[in-house]
Amino acid sequence: MRKNIVAGNWKMNKTFPEGVELIQQIVNQSDVVKNVELIIAPPFILTAEASKIIKDSAVKLGVQNCSNYKEGAYTGEISVSMLKSIGTEYVILGHSERRKYFKETNEIINEKIKLNLEIGLKPIACCGEVFEEREKEEHFQVVNKQIKEMFEGIDADNMKNIVIAYEPVWAIGTGKTATPEQAQEMHLFIREKIRNSYGSQIANDISILYGGSCKPSNAEELFANPDVDGGLIGGASLKADDFIEIAKSF
Ligand code: PGA
Repeated sequence: MRKNIVAGNWKMNKTFPEGVELIQQIVNQSDVVKNVELIIAPPFILTAEASKIIKDSAVKLGVQNCSNYKEGAYTGEISVSMLKSIGTEYVILGHSERRKYFKETNEIINEKIKLNLEIGLKPIACCGEVFEEREKEEHFQVVNKQIKEMFEGIDADNMKNIVIAYEPVWAIGTGKTATPEQAQEMHLFIREKIRNSYGSQIANDISILYGGSCKPSNAEELFANPDVDGGLIGGASLKADDFIEIAKSF
């Protein structure tokens, strides 16, 4: 059966000392979280240290991005082998902020996903519509295109190692959360698409996370849905208490 997952996407927040403190707080409280894969994705500068701090705990290391190139003359980039070498397990890919501010296309995200799978890292592949698309009732079409193109050429064996995050862009950092019905409806839609392409076993086993203003006060009603297997948490992952509270909401 599929895993319940709660992943904290810190985005570009916390200095090194602040980050170390937050990771320690999360590790200290993580014992109370049962049957949930708890992932932190701090900024790159904190990752090697994070790996040491979480070593004897159940907390897993994620990152927020990686290069779409393997290695070499790509100034400022971080490769999948570097990430693997410090104990990274999960890589958030195709986040809407990467798509919007850094012009990431489904094609680039597809290249990154393939590099991750090749080396044994698990992509958390993000999809989601913007407000105008939902208003025009194009959200299913938009998400369908994203998952089709992001997963182009990925076979069933590799699909097993992917986590999907549905993040309606209008809900990210806005305080406006999707209703449990809106989340469930889209998660089911995504799962059915995976079922059509990869079969029932993989569709039933893949974890689909919800992201977008998920917090302690709404996590329980979101996670109660049969096709919502956890959350990708932005703002609320920056406070250990809130993050742990969310992870206890299943
Ligand atoms: P938020 O961000 O929880 O702050 O809305 C979620 C995300 O972007 O992953």
